[in-house]
Amino acid sequence: MKVLIATEKPFAKAAVDGIRAIVEKAGYELCLLEKYTDVQQFYDAVADVDALIVRSDKVTAEVIDAAKNLKIVVRAGAGFDNLDLAACTANNIVAMNTPGQNSNAVAELALGMMIYMARNTFKPGTGAELKGKKVGIQAYGNVGRLVAEKAKAMGMEVWAFDPFVPKEKMEAEGVHVPATLEEMYENCNYISLHIPANDQTKKSIGKNLVGRMPKGGCLINTARKEVINEEELSALMAEREDLKYCTDIAPVEMGLFENYEKRFFATPKKQGAETAEANINAGLAAANQIVNFFVNGDKKFQVNK
Ligand code: 3PG
Repeated sequence: MKVLIATEKPFAKAAVDGIRAIVEKAGYELCLLEKYTDVQQFYDAVADVDALIVRSDKVTAEVIDAAKNLKIVVRAGAGFDNLDLAACTANNIVAMNTPGQNSNAVAELALGMMIYMARNTFKPGTGAELKGKKVGIQAYGNVGRLVAEKAKAMGMEVWAFDPFVPKEKMEAEGVHVPATLEEMYENCNYISLHIPANDQTKKSIGKNLVGRMPKGGCLINTARKEVINEEELSALMAEREDLKYCTDIAPVEMGLFENYEKRFFATPKKQGAETAEANINAGLAAANQIVNFFVNGDKKFQVNK
């Protein structure tokens, strides 16, 4: 049995070592494709493997087609918008993610971004404190909950909106739940996005929502670039010179934001899950899920059901 790690952005060495230990203990062979620059390298590497571990690597219909022995693909992370689920299903391949494993790293980055923007991207000048400010968390999943917890510790007032989580549960955790998403944008100094990229959410964050934010409002995006309506947001930031945008996922059109010095920041390469801890948690979970699938038929984290 062959397990391939295919990561254009590699895991920390400790994570690869841990995955190797789990895979070899089960009697399987581990293959490694890191920092590939051409998709053909991915097609070649996947040709004879039974299982695949990826990060944000795009597992397209072409990759699936090249992977004639593949039975399971695990996205070591939360968002699985990089997997062609229809192609997996059509080829009897089980697709999984590892929910929760890298959430703390992403939540810490979201708080770090709020501080960075509050302090004028660390440039000289008077900034502001997070204490006493309101943060609105859009989607109260694994990451959103951790952002709430950390924001409360910073003395922030936490609001959250998530139509899939019962209001009572959020309120029991000390979070204010507005009646509408619009109400959250109207009231919060910071909005932290934790929604997945799907047909419902793509390009959903634009003028209608961000334009409602109070003076000095700051949008924090550690989710996906696809959820932003970049043209609208850029035009809005030109109109409203008080608004700020900080993103962990460089916009598709960087040029749209290049004039907003101090009010805009994008990490050069996605940093959210880039901690040794998150790499180890998600990588080892992926390896364990693969072994459990082959040994016990366990499909608990399957996403293409
Ligand atoms: C996730 O969905 O888990 C994060 O976006 C992490 O992505 P990465 O593994 O490519 O850093």
